[in-house]
Amino acid sequence: MKIDILTLFPEMFTGVFGSSMLGRAQANGLLEIHTHNIRDYADNKHRKTDDYPFGGGAGMVMMAQPIFDCMEAVQGDAPAHRILLTPRGQLLTAKRAQELAKEERLILLCGHYEGVDERVNTIIDEELSIGDYVLTGGELPAMVLVDCLSRFIPGVLGSEESVLDESHADGLLEYPQYTRPADFRGMIVPEILQNGHHAKIQKWRHEQALLKTKQMRPILLGHFGKFQK
Ligand code: ADE
Repeated sequence: MKIDILTLFPEMFTGVFGSSMLGRAQANGLLEIHTHNIRDYADNKHRKTDDYPFGGGAGMVMMAQPIFDCMEAVQGDAPAHRILLTPRGQLLTAKRAQELAKEERLILLCGHYEGVDERVNTIIDEELSIGDYVLTGGELPAMVLVDCLSRFIPGVLGSEESVLDESHADGLLEYPQYTRPADFRGMIVPEILQNGHHAKIQKWRHEQALLKTKQMRPILLGHFGKFQK
């Protein structure tokens, strides 16, 4: 998958995608990530990328011109799914990340200031938010999105890791996990996990996942079963 990121702050991405799983995925050719500075496409003398909002109000608005030119230059003639990261977007979920992982090419646009000129929406396919809170810009959300969807690209996770057993994979939060020793400072690993009976362990894990979800995020139980594998 190829991912282009359009941003006013490309330096924020330095080093982020180079290490760990995403570094390995790029080295293996599974993922190709490029950042592009929107400011390089501003056609005014001072390379300004924002201006006051029509109608007044606080803050500045990102101008359409540098974004259009940047998008057109980066996209070229190849099709791409174009996403604007904004607190106004649809909430990112594991299900959506899994779907996006199937795209051949993504272009991510990081919003800033008080927002982006509404006309930019004519060159955007989807608006995504990573949560119901406002960050200073779309750069961190773009990093979250890339990290989250990359894990669904076949080959990105090592064979010992799995996206099937983790929180949100089946609409539930993950069951408790333990590793050795079985007795740590008097805290004992549940007997059922130590006796090795596969079916009983599966049943226990499912019950624990339901319990955890009910305690922590009961609203998720409404979605349980609707998740597409
Ligand atoms: N930009 C600022 N806040 C954001 C959020 N919560 N999600 C996506 N983009 C954003």
